[in-house]
Amino acid sequence: MNFTQIAENRQSCRSYDPTKPVEQEKLDRILASARLAPSACNGQPYHITVCKGKAAADVAKAVQGMGMNKFASDAPVMLVLSEKPYVATAGLGAKLKGIDYRSIDIGILSAYITAEATAQGLGTCILGWLDDDAIRKICHLDGAVRLVITLGYAKEDDKLRSKKRKDLDTLVSTVE
Ligand SMILES: Cc1cc2nc3c(=O)[nH]c(=O)nc-3n(C[C@H](O)[C@H](O)[C@H](O)COP(=O)(O)O)c2cc1C
Repeated sequence: MNFTQIAENRQSCRSYDPTKPVEQEKLDRILASARLAPSACNGQPYHITVCKGKAAADVAKAVQGMGMNKFASDAPVMLVLSEKPYVATAGLGAKLKGIDYRSIDIGILSAYITAEATAQGLGTCILGWLDDDAIRKICHLDGAVRLVITLGYAKEDDKLRSKKRKDLDTLVSTVE
């Protein structure tokens, strides 16, 4: 798959086949690409916790407050993205410029993870609706949990949806 094909095929998967585990080599490939994601000052101020088995089931519960994200229970793997401290230069830059580089870095990390998962034929959904305290306890984390990504094989009948996005005219302007 080239990048255009990945962009056209990636979608939030909300229907997983719970009987199909994620092969370790595919998970390793996803994590290897995640490692290559760029970040402010190359600081990588985040941690990825791979949750399987009981931990995945527990994390699934922690993203289901108020009846949300029920599909997460069928995902065999949950990737928890949490904060780590900034390296000194990025921390200083964030303070001086008032820009939350760490959130941007975690967003880019998510894009790499979901793109590589798509290339590996796997489904993902980025989840921002989560119980930070509960997931920190499950994963033994000090840093804030910012996102969870469900990972697994989509059910056979989970077809590619047409994308609803803003028009390029709305999204983009050019100045010269
Ligand atoms: C930061 C962030 C948080 C999100 N949180 C959730 C969530 O909690 N539950 C959910 O079902 N989808 C969640 N999504 C998925 C978006 O709804 C989805 O990406 C968007 O509607 C576009 O659809 P697509 O991913 O299928 O292209 C989240 C996406 C992002 C980037």
